[in-house]
Amino acid sequence: MEKKTIETKITIYNFDELTKAQQVLIDKAKEQVSKAYAPYSNFHVGAAVELENGAIFAGSNQENSAYPSGLCAERVAIFYANAQFPETPVKTIAIAAHTNNAFLEEPITPCGSCRQVLLESETRFEKNITILLYGTKHIYQIENVKQLLPLCFEKKNLNS
Ligand code: THU
Repeated sequence: MEKKTIETKITIYNFDELTKAQQVLIDKAKEQVSKAYAPYSNFHVGAAVELENGAIFAGSNQENSAYPSGLCAERVAIFYANAQFPETPVKTIAIAAHTNNAFLEEPITPCGSCRQVLLESETRFEKNITILLYGTKHIYQIENVKQLLPLCFEKKNLNS
């Protein structure tokens, strides 16, 4: 028998410690929460995606009376970006969440379905996507999607 432990590396920052480009992306994600359509959960999420060419695309969660038909902010933003620039790798995604009239103190992390979609973008271009998770107290930086989705199912598994 053999046991394996998988670790996720997270670097925790204050806003001032981030680069200017990272601050801009987080501000975009924060701005975006006001555009969420979340009448059912009242949980407003914003995501901003920066591509390798410097273009930024932002999205917010879009809910629906038929609940599963809605979509998270992360997928709205990354599908939007990939649809506009299908040949350009994604560099960074920033995510912010707002509820009860305030941004959350501690960051939220993307749901499982969003992780799977982010992973596709990362493997498609063979380029790490940095993930910035905004909280008013702490900002988490994760260096790639694989860190968030170990033991993942990916394209290469279909060819094995
Ligand atoms: N949501 C996101 O947009 N991103 C996340 O990372 C977590 C959850 C949305 C989905 C739904 O509209 C609401 O937040 C509550 O789950």
